[in-house]
Amino acid sequence: MHTPLRDRVALITGGAGGIGAATARKLAGQGAAVVVADRDGAAAEHVAAGLRAEGLGVRAVAMDQTDPEQVERVFSETAQANGGLDICFANAGWGRVDAFLDLPLATWNRHVAVNLTGTFLVCQAAARHMVQGGRGGSIIVNTSNGAVAPAALFSAYCATKAALNMLVQVMAGELGGHDIRVNAVMPGVTATAMTKDLLEQGMDRLVEAQTPLGRVGRPEDVAAAVAFLAGDDSSYVTGTAQLVDGGATHNVPRWFTTDYRRRGAAPWRLRHLETPTTEGDGT
Ligand SMILES: NC(=O)c1ccc[n+]([C@@H]2O[C@H](COP(=O)([O-])OP(=O)(O)OC[C@H]3O[C@@H](n4cnc5c(N)ncnc54)[C@H](O)[C@@H]3O)[C@@H](O)[C@H]2O)c1
Repeated sequence: MHTPLRDRVALITGGAGGIGAATARKLAGQGAAVVVADRDGAAAEHVAAGLRAEGLGVRAVAMDQTDPEQVERVFSETAQANGGLDICFANAGWGRVDAFLDLPLATWNRHVAVNLTGTFLVCQAAARHMVQGGRGGSIIVNTSNGAVAPAALFSAYCATKAALNMLVQVMAGELGGHDIRVNAVMPGVTATAMTKDLLEQGMDRLVEAQTPLGRVGRPEDVAAAVAFLAGDDSSYVTGTAQLVDGGATHNVPRWFTTDYRRRGAAPWRLRHLETPTTEGDGT
């Protein structure tokens, strides 16, 4: 068995979710002792129990990352129980779709509390424990392709994720002297609970058609990128943000477009401006 992460201790936030659980399986499969932390403690325990049944070393803990005391307690207990902390995947996040003009302040505040302040608390706790441990470490933040590509109706989500990309860069500068590397992963649309409703409403076909690699992202795609950034193969990589999006983000169709679900020599066609029909638009 290939176990490049043996003797490493990893904490994954949002570990009960799709990307978090896939990453727990990946890192534990490479030999790391993994703690999955999630606001939903029962769901985290369900994930951990399933992975333990596969023979993997995964434990679960309940943690709401908007609460500084819970974050500090979980990181202290994890470091104490496992003899330190080497890898942190700051993955938990939250998102809602709202028109900017109607965005309720409470929804904005929730994005800031979970995505921005919560991730800050997680990264700071991880970095402090890594410095204390004296053996360096790797912090990976799950931002989003929305951090670099604006998406209408996602103003709060995109703004908080963009801020995290900058936080990653500043942390990389400050923490390099402690041999702590900090990088971001930026998934495109990935099939998890977060996107289930939208994908089931037909967004899956749209994403497939507009993505050069012709499919929706899988949690395992992101987990593989995280494993690279967590391990020694990326020992000279810090302050970066890695898209994991099948090429979709920067492939905004301009004049010619195609349907990437057709693999190989798919026909290209000139884009046409779609004129809204009067059907159902209230006129
Ligand atoms: N799925 C996508 O298309 C996609 C794309 C880009 C980025 N992301 C990011 O990936 C990350 C993981 O999302 P996912 O797609 O696996 O979704 P998911 O809904 O399956 O998982 C998110 C997890 O975060 C947990 N969580 C939410 N708020 C929390 C809090 N305050 N404290 C602790 N845990 C909390 C949830 O309980 C859930 O288990 C998120 O940061 C998300 O923004 C997802």
